[in-house]
Amino acid sequence: MDKIVLESPLDMHLHLRDETMLEVVAPLSAKNFSGALIMPNLVPPISTKDEVKAYKQRILKASKDKNFNPYMTLFFKNTYTKTFLKSIKDDILAIKMYPDGATTNSQGGVSSFDLKEIGQTLQAMSDLGIVLAIHGESNGFVMDREAEFIPLYEQIAQNFPNLKIIMEHITTKIAVDTMKKYNNLHATITLHHLLITLDDLAGGMLKPHLFCKPIAKRPEDKEALLALALSGHSRVMFGSDSAPHPQHKKESCGCAAGVFTAPIAIEVLVSLFDKHNSLKTLPLFLSQNAQNIYQIKPPKKILTLEKIDHIVPKSYTDVIPMYAGEILNYKITNIEV
Ligand code: NCD
Ligand code: ZN
Repeated sequence: MDKIVLESPLDMHLHLRDETMLEVVAPLSAKNFSGALIMPNLVPPISTKDEVKAYKQRILKASKDKNFNPYMTLFFKNTYTKTFLKSIKDDILAIKMYPDGATTNSQGGVSSFDLKEIGQTLQAMSDLGIVLAIHGESNGFVMDREAEFIPLYEQIAQNFPNLKIIMEHITTKIAVDTMKKYNNLHATITLHHLLITLDDLAGGMLKPHLFCKPIAKRPEDKEALLALALSGHSRVMFGSDSAPHPQHKKESCGCAAGVFTAPIAIEVLVSLFDKHNSLKTLPLFLSQNAQNIYQIKPPKKILTLEKIDHIVPKSYTDVIPMYAGEILNYKITNIEV
């Protein structure tokens, strides 16, 4: 009773960083997940075949788990030619497009979304079947950035009907509605955007560990995201956007954006889906939809969760997870490969 079994969970938007931080966080994702889409926003960003291959090796080494597949991405540049993309196609699962400066380590991203600037690369990606993952935010007022980006999503979706586009970490009702309108639009949703609004971040005492880009929005947005995730919609996947920063960069007068959720994500998702009587659709959101969208077969990993209260660690070395020191009511009690 009260045992939940999940097969091969996937996290289709994950920041693993590099060096010491990579050593701390990679094993935490690798233990619970079968695979993850690894974001390329290192400094400098991952933008060559050699960098992709070398970073993948560093991740595999740090993961300490043979049954975890890091699916690699490349940082979008409008200088990528079709020949280059052909040569790198088999080493990556997607190309990640950031507006220049929109979030952590996105300098050098796209500064004009004019199709004259980015259209050739997008057409080559479409021809080669390479997925485009987009951080969709304008540089406008912080609460409106995602909504202001919607026309650009629509423009790309309409002009490149065969291009698979992922609207990354959607946070608004309008993004939900837009995704549903176009068959080539897909979306990832984070754990924290299913749980918090701007109120949780800034309505009382400021909570720096809940500060992220895109910023958490209004209750009606959260409700729309939750309804979409619980529905198991075939074009929607879990992507934690777990984005670790050292404690001193979060608890600082210039707080870095990013919520660290990787080690607690599965347990909290199970609680949330259970609370909404939706455990049946969780395997779609957490694994099967991503397998279909990206046409991947991740390593087999069977997780068993039981209703057991346990306390989230206060920190993982110097990284503070969401719900640090709080009680979760589902626990992963067994992992079989
Ligand atoms: C991410 C990071 O720290 O790399 N931060 C965040 O707030 N989500 C970048 C990103 O995905 O926007
Ligand atoms: Zn991210």
